[in-house]
Amino acid sequence: MNNFNLHLPTKLYFGKDQHKELSNLIPAGSKVLMLYGGGSIKRNGIYEKVKGELANFEVLEFGGIEANPQYSTLLKALEIIKSEGITFMLAVGGGSVIDGTKFLSSAALFEGDEPWDILAKGIRTEVGLPFGTVLTLPATGSEMNSGAVVSRKEIGQKRAMGGPGLFPVFSISDPTVVASLPERQLANGIVDAFTHVMEQYMTYPTAATLQDRISEGILATLMEIAPTVMKEPDNYEVAANFMWCCNMALNGIIQKGVPTDWSIHAIGHEITAAYGIDHARTLAIVLPSMYRYKIDNKDAKLAQYGRRVLGLEGADRAVAEAAIDATEEFFRSLGIGTTLSDYQVEEVASFPSKCVEAMEAQRTIILGEKRDIRAEDVRAILQAAL
Ligand code: NZQ
Ligand code: ZN
Repeated sequence: MNNFNLHLPTKLYFGKDQHKELSNLIPAGSKVLMLYGGGSIKRNGIYEKVKGELANFEVLEFGGIEANPQYSTLLKALEIIKSEGITFMLAVGGGSVIDGTKFLSSAALFEGDEPWDILAKGIRTEVGLPFGTVLTLPATGSEMNSGAVVSRKEIGQKRAMGGPGLFPVFSISDPTVVASLPERQLANGIVDAFTHVMEQYMTYPTAATLQDRISEGILATLMEIAPTVMKEPDNYEVAANFMWCCNMALNGIIQKGVPTDWSIHAIGHEITAAYGIDHARTLAIVLPSMYRYKIDNKDAKLAQYGRRVLGLEGADRAVAEAAIDATEEFFRSLGIGTTLSDYQVEEVASFPSKCVEAMEAQRTIILGEKRDIRAEDVRAILQAAL
């Protein structure tokens, strides 16, 4: 097992009615900026619940953070933070609102002239403006990790940032929010969390037995509960398992001591930057094609997954191939397309080359657990995903 450090400072309040803790969790005397998305929280009652707990604080609001949060929108919030002297932020939303808030946490204390440098130059955030979250959509795990992804459509980029200063101080994860999610977001959440586990597990065999078993447990649980999550999102126990799986998939635990991949995400971000396709759907497009292309590197682990999670039997190579097919079928059973042509997008044929060009310009193209996925590999993987 590789050496590791583990520091998970976010206080997680999980379960029904945990928003009632908000007034104890936000530091007394804070001037709070409450951030949210396009308005779902006003339709499903979450806004009222949260606002009701903030009576003892001076609160300003910033709504309109879009899915795949946009840099230009976040700059408007940054102005408010600076001009109003905000001391604490509360993100109420899914990964996009939380990630947007993480960017603001970093940008509020950033001393350079151009906050985009935090993303473009990969500047780690050691200290950020403190913030908490009220999660409304289980998927990304952003509520308990220190990463964020921000888009800038003017230049066609979607980039990641992070650092120890970006952990939420606290997160409220109440599974009753799952009942208000449309099918599209339920399916996205399942596929995103599933792929997070795969990116940290589907590499090569190591001696990290516990990490493997935890990862396999999350994958098996997601597959087991997925049909009920889709049909009965108001089933509290199933929603709770869904929310906890999404958190466990990317709260930092399963990546400790093991090699990780993350190439599917890197390519997926380019698909979102080019076409605006939902994050999880881009992963479903890339994953089957990636694993078929890299089967020689990954066959032992694919076979382990096939046997332990999917109950397949046979020789390693046959199980590995069947495991990829079954995973693709799982995504499709949730109504998620697994090729680019499943989405109504233009100029699909030229996309592999454009994507490689964009990645080369950003120097983000040394990928994979062995750092052996280069431009020609990305082109071939995308070609097979058209
Ligand atoms: O904007 P509103 O009106 O709130 O609607 C949102 C949005 O349209 C809606 N929604 C959220 N909660 C709802 C709800 N609708 C009804 N009821 C509710 N309770 O869902 C839509 C999607 O929301 P979004 O926050 O974009 O989804 P998600 O949580 O999947 O986040 C995706 C973003 O997170 C990034 C992705 O790249 C993408 O930008 N990721 C962040 C990661 C991280 N920080 O660790 C890791 C991930 O791999 C991912 O890259
Ligand atoms: Zn993801």
